[in-house]
Amino acid sequence: MENSGKFKRILVTAALPYTNGDIHLGHIAGAYLPPDMYVRYLRLAGYNVVFICGSDEHGTAIEMSAIKEGVSPQVIIDKYHFANKKAYEDLGIKYDIYSRTSTETHKKTSQDFFKVLNDKGLLYQKTEKQLYSEKEKRFLADRFVIGTCPVCGFEEARGDECENCGSALSPLELKNPRSTITGDTPVVKESTHFYFPLSKFQAMLEEWINSKPDWKPNVVNYCKGWFKTGLQDRAITRDLDWGVPVPLEGYDGKVIYVWFEAPIGYISITKELFEQEGNPEGWKDYWCKDDTKLVHFVGKDNIIFHAIFFPAMLMAHGDFVLADNVPANEFLNFEGGKLSKSRGHSIAVKDAVSRFNPDSVRYALATSLPENKDTDFYWKDLQAKNNNELGAILGNFVNRTFVFAEKYFEGTVPAAGEYKEIDSIIINSIKSYSSSIASYYENYKFKDAVSETMNLVRDANKYFNDTEPWKAVKEDIARCGTIINTCLQLCRSFAVLFYPVLPFSSEKLFRMLNISSEGETWESAAELKLHAGHKLNKPEILFRKIEDSEIEQ
Ligand code: MF3
Ligand code: ZN
Repeated sequence: MENSGKFKRILVTAALPYTNGDIHLGHIAGAYLPPDMYVRYLRLAGYNVVFICGSDEHGTAIEMSAIKEGVSPQVIIDKYHFANKKAYEDLGIKYDIYSRTSTETHKKTSQDFFKVLNDKGLLYQKTEKQLYSEKEKRFLADRFVIGTCPVCGFEEARGDECENCGSALSPLELKNPRSTITGDTPVVKESTHFYFPLSKFQAMLEEWINSKPDWKPNVVNYCKGWFKTGLQDRAITRDLDWGVPVPLEGYDGKVIYVWFEAPIGYISITKELFEQEGNPEGWKDYWCKDDTKLVHFVGKDNIIFHAIFFPAMLMAHGDFVLADNVPANEFLNFEGGKLSKSRGHSIAVKDAVSRFNPDSVRYALATSLPENKDTDFYWKDLQAKNNNELGAILGNFVNRTFVFAEKYFEGTVPAAGEYKEIDSIIINSIKSYSSSIASYYENYKFKDAVSETMNLVRDANKYFNDTEPWKAVKEDIARCGTIINTCLQLCRSFAVLFYPVLPFSSEKLFRMLNISSEGETWESAAELKLHAGHKLNKPEILFRKIEDSEIEQ
């Protein structure tokens, strides 16, 4: 808790996903499960937390999908906005608000932000040559043009990058350029764009990042790499129809660049949350006060925008807090290939949760998080972790405990008599485990937090084996009562301590114990709250075994 001591409130954001495809497990492991676990932990630990996410609905990829499918961008974003919102819910990823960047609030917030920077004289304009389609009456940005790669000769190179040789390109470098949509040959025309002077912020950014000793080394190393190359100014407007219009006279047909406007979504979505709560000024506490801890969860491909570009925008604006941390993850590779939509190796969340317990999926991902390097994920891991850890360790302990309570104590909590040393040791260990798990959560070490939680269950199983309640039940029923009482108290502790990673099972466990999860805190995990004589509910299976045949499918 030391770590968050100087802060009064914590604002947690998860990268706003594009709405041109389904959310998949690679995304979840990168930027969504970690903040969900973090926030669930923080709430139990008593912090004021707001957890924000929403759909990123502008950008050329969405406009392109819409043109290809012959529908309006609105149709595409509606489809995936609601599908992804549901996918998060099904997986127990619980935002305070899941909104979108196509709202009026977002339009106004990002236009105001742009105007503030422009009024401060921070932006400049530059006129450049660009490809223009006479037929479509529009400039062809990035992906809207294909042509022959000047480096390798590949004939289908995109305006921004050649997929064959990986070269970064600009549309004007392509030989024989043509419109992706109509095949039309474009002409060269001039267009004026606004630039954000990122290069001027390099020194401030370096100083700022140097003042963050607790940032993850992978994140700091990426930043140092970009500093070394030197930050470049960035065009922050585009000639496109789909997006937030540039809020100035005489700039018809121009929108704000999606990577300038999308992160402002974190602010506009916070505004919406507080408006919904009937406290329209409440968002300012979270964005305009120094004692707010702002944490951005993102995948590694988004580090530059959250650790460099957006902070520079915030510095330029001046009214807002900067991130305290950007605990970005690397990539999760599925069955040896990259977990990404574009390369075909992907598992949509909806497919995973239709087959498996969402907690099993969460646990398997949480124990394989790509926290420091790219990590491989196999379906077999999900099976092994479900069967050998969730089932054989946690499920088994809970099950044997409940079976004893039902069979020998009429389904109630037996009284605890005098404790022996072995009892005191396990009871005291709950406290030390809960504080070490807490410090893993506070320091963004989610994999360690989860394995440490499971270690407590391992100890509990050892306690059960060593105290041999099956013998005690015949020789000394009171002693058996003390053991089962202790095991039931442990079950309650597990329900609290596993809540960040296994929220559905944790609720089930509370139900089985016939107590409410309400009012439980991280502190309370170590208390022995179950009273002798308390009636338990019938045990349920927490984790069903996953068969080989299901994995082969
Ligand atoms: N849509 C981006 C992606 O999926 C992330 C945007 S994060 C934001 O990579 F901050 F810009 F919103
Ligand atoms: Zn090439």
